[in-house]
Amino acid sequence: MTTSRRTVITAAAAAGLAASAATTGTAHAKSGGDSAGSGGDSAGKGGAVKEHFGTLADGTDVDRWTIENGRTRLRVLSYGGIVQSLEIPDRHGRRANVSLGFDDLDSYVANSPYFGALIGRYGNRIARGTFTLDGKKYQLPINDGPNSLHGGDKGFDKHVWSVEAFRKGADVGLTLRRVSPDGEMGYPGTLTVRVDYTLTAEGDFRIDYEATTDKATVVNLTNHTYYNLAGEGSGSIYNHRLEIAAARYTPVDKTLIPTGELARVAGTPFDFRRTKEIGRDIREAHQQVLYGQGIDHNFVLDKGITSRPEHFLTVTEPESGRVMRIATTEPGAQFYTGNFLTGTFAGTSGKVYRQGDAFALETQHFPDSPNQPSFPSTVLRPGQTYRSTTVHSFSTR
Ligand code: GLA
Repeated sequence: MTTSRRTVITAAAAAGLAASAATTGTAHAKSGGDSAGSGGDSAGKGGAVKEHFGTLADGTDVDRWTIENGRTRLRVLSYGGIVQSLEIPDRHGRRANVSLGFDDLDSYVANSPYFGALIGRYGNRIARGTFTLDGKKYQLPINDGPNSLHGGDKGFDKHVWSVEAFRKGADVGLTLRRVSPDGEMGYPGTLTVRVDYTLTAEGDFRIDYEATTDKATVVNLTNHTYYNLAGEGSGSIYNHRLEIAAARYTPVDKTLIPTGELARVAGTPFDFRRTKEIGRDIREAHQQVLYGQGIDHNFVLDKGITSRPEHFLTVTEPESGRVMRIATTEPGAQFYTGNFLTGTFAGTSGKVYRQGDAFALETQHFPDSPNQPSFPSTVLRPGQTYRSTTVHSFSTR
């Protein structure tokens, strides 16, 4: 992969302010493949660096953006809005990339199990790819056994988004936009989508989603970053200690569609109400663990739907001391233990990814909500605005 051009854009300039207010350093010409980040890029605080990442088969150029704030550095691709790397410090201040990914565009196009990607229009599964809305039946592409997963075979993760950098007070960020045409992947309505990736002064990573439609439709947006707080490519996450404030989860059938029940986690491997190692119960022959080949389940967050992001999860990696806390406005989160990573490809650092080498936490409405009248609604109508926010906070202990 080559990096043919690199532009330094100050966040202030991008926001239409006086460019001189936020001068960035010089961007060194470095290989675009360096995502583990040894500190070569010197965009100043608040500066966003844009570089060419690759070209799709149809000739569309894909950029990679780098933003940095506090001790956090984030790299995002215009393709799929993919979080290519997320670097945070350990307890000694040593930064590592804690998200799984690739260092070239071709691998994302050919192989990616949604690494870091924006997922839409509907995160997770819709049974048999069909639902009825206002008396009309819609058919979506079937791309996961008998079901439709993550928006169909060309979901938001496989489109190029328009990207702009911004600075708001002490925050720096990227705004990603895309208009999904009426009928795209079988979904009704023209969906106008905006996603803001923000790094706060403290180095927290915040994602704000917003969407409007011109026809009644269903929407469930999320991000599919795979985390390993010991560092991408460093092995299993089973030693990470996890706490989720969820007394219930949504059990599934063998195709991973919820049965409709909100089952209690008490006495099951799904009980993370008190901190435990992710791997502790992963080999229990519980029917749900067998169906998921590990954990691949939606947790019903005790906090419910909230207008502001509320904390529901803490995960700690004991060796590095890295801690991630997550807050969301959403009622659910899919906790997925990387069960389908099968050692068939290598990631950013050149190491092969195997089962359990990362976990994803996809904040969301519950899977298959369009077919489950008892679940919180995912319907969006003209005149309404879909909004969802998730904040990842990083610290060490
Ligand atoms: C989600 C799903 C999983 C799997 C991954 C991607 O987490 O719930 O079943 O499809 O995405 O591999």
